[in-house]
Amino acid sequence: MVKVITYGTFDLFHEGHYRLLQRAKALGDYLIVGVTTESFDEARGKLNVVDSLMTRIENVKKSGFADEVIVEDHIGQKVEDIQKYGADIFVLGSDWTGKFDYLKDFCEVRYLERTKGISSTMKRTHNHKIIRMGLIGSGRIARRFVPEAKYVSGMELTGVFNPHIESAKRFAEEMECEFYTADEEEFYEHVDAVDICVPHEFHYLYAKNALEHGKHVLCEKPMTLKKAEAEELFALAEEHGLVLMEAIKTAYTPGFIRLLSMVQSGVIGEIRDVESCFTRIFPKDSMRELTNAEHGGSFTEYGSYNLLPIIKLLGKDYQDIRFECFKAANGVDLYTKAYFRYPHSMATAKTGLKVKSDGHLLISGTRGYIFVPAPWWKTTEFEICYEDFTQNEKVYTKYLGDGLRYELSDFVSAINGNPRGGFKLTRNESIAFADIMEKFLAWRKATPIEEGTVII
Ligand code: CTP
Repeated sequence: MVKVITYGTFDLFHEGHYRLLQRAKALGDYLIVGVTTESFDEARGKLNVVDSLMTRIENVKKSGFADEVIVEDHIGQKVEDIQKYGADIFVLGSDWTGKFDYLKDFCEVRYLERTKGISSTMKRTHNHKIIRMGLIGSGRIARRFVPEAKYVSGMELTGVFNPHIESAKRFAEEMECEFYTADEEEFYEHVDAVDICVPHEFHYLYAKNALEHGKHVLCEKPMTLKKAEAEELFALAEEHGLVLMEAIKTAYTPGFIRLLSMVQSGVIGEIRDVESCFTRIFPKDSMRELTNAEHGGSFTEYGSYNLLPIIKLLGKDYQDIRFECFKAANGVDLYTKAYFRYPHSMATAKTGLKVKSDGHLLISGTRGYIFVPAPWWKTTEFEICYEDFTQNEKVYTKYLGDGLRYELSDFVSAINGNPRGGFKLTRNESIAFADIMEKFLAWRKATPIEEGTVII
């Protein structure tokens, strides 16, 4: 019996897939088809797969050519499978010509001509029109958006708005945007969705205006600095059938999601403590984060990252929250600790702009702990540790590029009616973050202090 093996994502199953499987089956007596998992696709940068694994497997089965369907979830698996299943021929489409020649040590390798004029990518694009994205603001974050957006299919950066026309012009020329404007009304005429990349205190008004103009909104963190504003924005988005997402990039990355799901499945027992830290020494004292006395400071700047694992793992119903910090002369916090108390656990969030500390995340439980080394917010590895250290385990995950592509990809999917990333950061979680920001700013304002002293 001649066994043939082939692999693919088989997203939005199409004629090209059908013809490939048909010809693969005709090469032998028994066809094994490997279908990729979502996490494997994510790890290799294929972020916009529409169909679930189960749907893709069903479609391969329905073709009637597969005698056996297997799941492919890691690099190197092809070598293992060929030996394990005793495959005689490995088949892939001609777009892969040469790439799998190393498998010739194990079996015959054949590249079959690809069917012209069809691909999953084309179908994804045809099923949904390309989303025209516009940037509100053209500063540091907006700059990071541009290279990352290139990895996300289904959207294109169209233009940029900045009330300072010179900045908008400079950005648009450098980033090759179609248009730039200082006129907000005109801006909304040309875009379907916006990414709000302006200082925190302007998020709410721009988000509200964009939603009222029927635009989907991705908003930098913290989305708002007041609970009622966050609630209002989500209600507005719902009323208009629009997507509103807070851009805390870590929430959407595969490593962080893996970490959460491991903790939530009980590997370290009951969670008793979460400690999270994010600090960065700012190079210039003239930067907005240090000069904006009302809204600047370390907690509004980096607190969202630290609150993420705390609220995701322990929930928003803490019994008590308390802060302490070092302030600058103008009142901004240079180093802050937020302490949370829950019925059966506790948590600390540390942020700094003028104090450097180790940016790790530590989750302690009744059976063990998980340590995520700095920079934990770009989760690429973590260690699960037990009393019996021989049981310790290290987990490594991918974090591609600057990480923004993950949130962009979930944003595009949500706009296209597939809210697969919805659980990664929920409306209630974003509202809880806004509530904590509001509590913090109220506490900071009400707590006068001399420069450099600790306030509690
Ligand atoms: N294939 C083919 N002809 C096409 C499209 C795909 O023969 N027009 C083959 C691929 O070469 C591969 C298999 O079908 O052997 C599964 O490919 P997959 O990557 O799932 O499909 P694509 O349509 O190429 O997907 P994408 O556009 O996302 O890359």
